[in-house]
Amino acid sequence: MLKKMSIGSPEKSSAPSRANPTVRVLVATRRTDVHAALEQIAPYALTEAVSTRGVYTSLRGTQLAIVELDALLEEEIPCETLLQVLQQSPTVVWTTPDGFLREPATWRSHALAASGHFECFPPAAAALTSYSGGVGKTTLSLDAAVHFAARTKLPTAVVEFPYGPSALRVITGTTEGAGFVDAVHNDPSEALRSDFPLWRGVTLVTVNYADVSGLLKPEEVAQCFERIRNAHILTIVDSEFPHPWLEIIAKQIGTFIIVGAPRPDAWNNAAALQQLMARTPDLYPHSQVVFNLVEGWGDRLTQLGLERTMDLPRVKYPERLEGRLGSMLLKAIYPYWAQTPGAATRRGM
Ligand SMILES: Nc1ncnc2c1ncn2[C@@H]1O[C@H](COP(=O)(O)OP(=O)(O)OP(=O)(O)O)[C@@H](O)[C@H]1O
Ligand SMILES: [Mg+2]
Repeated sequence: MLKKMSIGSPEKSSAPSRANPTVRVLVATRRTDVHAALEQIAPYALTEAVSTRGVYTSLRGTQLAIVELDALLEEEIPCETLLQVLQQSPTVVWTTPDGFLREPATWRSHALAASGHFECFPPAAAALTSYSGGVGKTTLSLDAAVHFAARTKLPTAVVEFPYGPSALRVITGTTEGAGFVDAVHNDPSEALRSDFPLWRGVTLVTVNYADVSGLLKPEEVAQCFERIRNAHILTIVDSEFPHPWLEIIAKQIGTFIIVGAPRPDAWNNAAALQQLMARTPDLYPHSQVVFNLVEGWGDRLTQLGLERTMDLPRVKYPERLEGRLGSMLLKAIYPYWAQTPGAATRRGM
């Protein structure tokens, strides 16, 4: 059961343009606060539905679906099935009324980014971390960042929090440019990004922790990171766990990605870290586990009761950063990543 279709907010300031495209929204809720908040995502084209069938048949052409499942009239399609369709849709970004009301503008950005408007990707900060060494934190951080920067041409950074000297400098062969600590002396009005080394399109923010750990006060660490984050669309932190600086900046991180590997110690560590983060939601409100280097271990990990967002395969030439791992990992940060045109990468490495 479809209700109506209309075009929202045709005022001058919100008229559609290349830089400000119209987003096609499907609203399936009677909540008036949602309708009022739509003005914040103008320009938009609105379709409304009141039944499961109405939502289902309107999905084609929709970019953002705001659906209150409990309030829908069940017609032909059970709510549970519709939920699955929404979750698996390769083209529609969906949220609940409460989710939408928390961040209307971000949902607009997600929806547009998902349909290929790369300039609309909302800023995100993710941290890859683990108790275990050698599970692929640095490889995955770099591969995801290089791939994202190449596809979107958006400012992208990798920030490392090691215990010893910078691994990023060694791996990338970078000797020039500022490091994390230098950002504290940086005048906020100056172009921060140009100070750091740019490697394969990615800003590298390196730390020689052995030398500088005592130099910065906690509030300076938080401030440095905030400046770096504000200067980039995607910021990926590659950090040991625990790490004092990671704790300091934890509140600025959108999602913690716990990296595990199918070695008994590494999956045990991943499970332990997942539990620790779940027990500390004020510091780590959103965490997920990703397994790397999985070769025929998938079933066994499932039998061990390990819930995880994805399994990443062992590839032949990880150091080449060809994007296969990165393009998969980006789905943990931007769930619709795979569907963005041109986001797929070549297979068969
Ligand atoms: N998916 C993969 N397929 C094959 N090799 C991989 C994969 N991921 C990582 N590697 C390799 O595993 C080794 C460890 O990876 P990496 O240095 O990224 O781990 P790390 O978690 O950052 O380690 P550390 O804790 O020492 O910083 C490297 O030699 C890397 O090339
Ligand atoms: Mg590393």
